[in-house]
Amino acid sequence: MLERIVFVLCLLPVLSAELCKPDAPGAYKVRLSIRTALGDNAYNWNKNEMFLFKAAMAYAMSNHTGKEYSVSNINVCKETLRVSFWFVVTSPDDPSTPVGKELVEAAVSKSRHRINSAFLLSDSTLEFVGIYPTLAAPVAPDTPPWLIAFGVVIGLVGAGIVFLLVSTVVEKKRRKKKKAEEKEEDEEARVKTVENGSTSDGIYNTTFSDEDRFTEM
Ligand SMILES: *[C@@H]1O[C@H](CO)[C@@H](O)[C@H](O)[C@H]1NC(C)=O
Repeated sequence: MLERIVFVLCLLPVLSAELCKPDAPGAYKVRLSIRTALGDNAYNWNKNEMFLFKAAMAYAMSNHTGKEYSVSNINVCKETLRVSFWFVVTSPDDPSTPVGKELVEAAVSKSRHRINSAFLLSDSTLEFVGIYPTLAAPVAPDTPPWLIAFGVVIGLVGAGIVFLLVSTVVEKKRRKKKKAEEKEEDEEARVKTVENGSTSDGIYNTTFSDEDRFTEM
């Protein structure tokens, strides 16, 4: 019996370690930029700070749900020195299951400024990756990626069609204009030769008469 209890107790930390994994269901990454925010007054991240984070998260969860969360419901893993870590919140009724994402997100958003002020940080220096600082925000950027890709393709095709249409119209116009100009030039040349012919009357010029014959043709 005792052996079994010891075995289960040994297994518990393993279980919680399994629960908290990067990108596991219900896992969130937190990033803190203490030095950016506080400069020379920056404090060192240590065990006590982590306890404060767990307590703040337990507070936020309790405040949002009305249930009693404790620091043991906040599982932390993957801590890095330039401070970042992942956390998973487990249910107080069943410590082996993570609570729903929407609960955590709503709780964090609701108590955001309380959590920030506990660490003397702001929305930009205490980052809950994937959780918006306010509750209103998450509606807008829910466009599925395929829709964005679809939009881009349709936009490109549309732009291509417009380009083709415009370029053919412009080309046509240019051709028309060129034709008209050529005609005009032709006529001008004819008028000139006629004028030249009249001014130089009396003098017979063979080159002129040749040219004249060419332009007539
Ligand atoms: C949650 O916090 C707000 C203000 O911070 C307070 O008014 C409210 O009573 C709290 N709710 C619970 C269930 O503790």
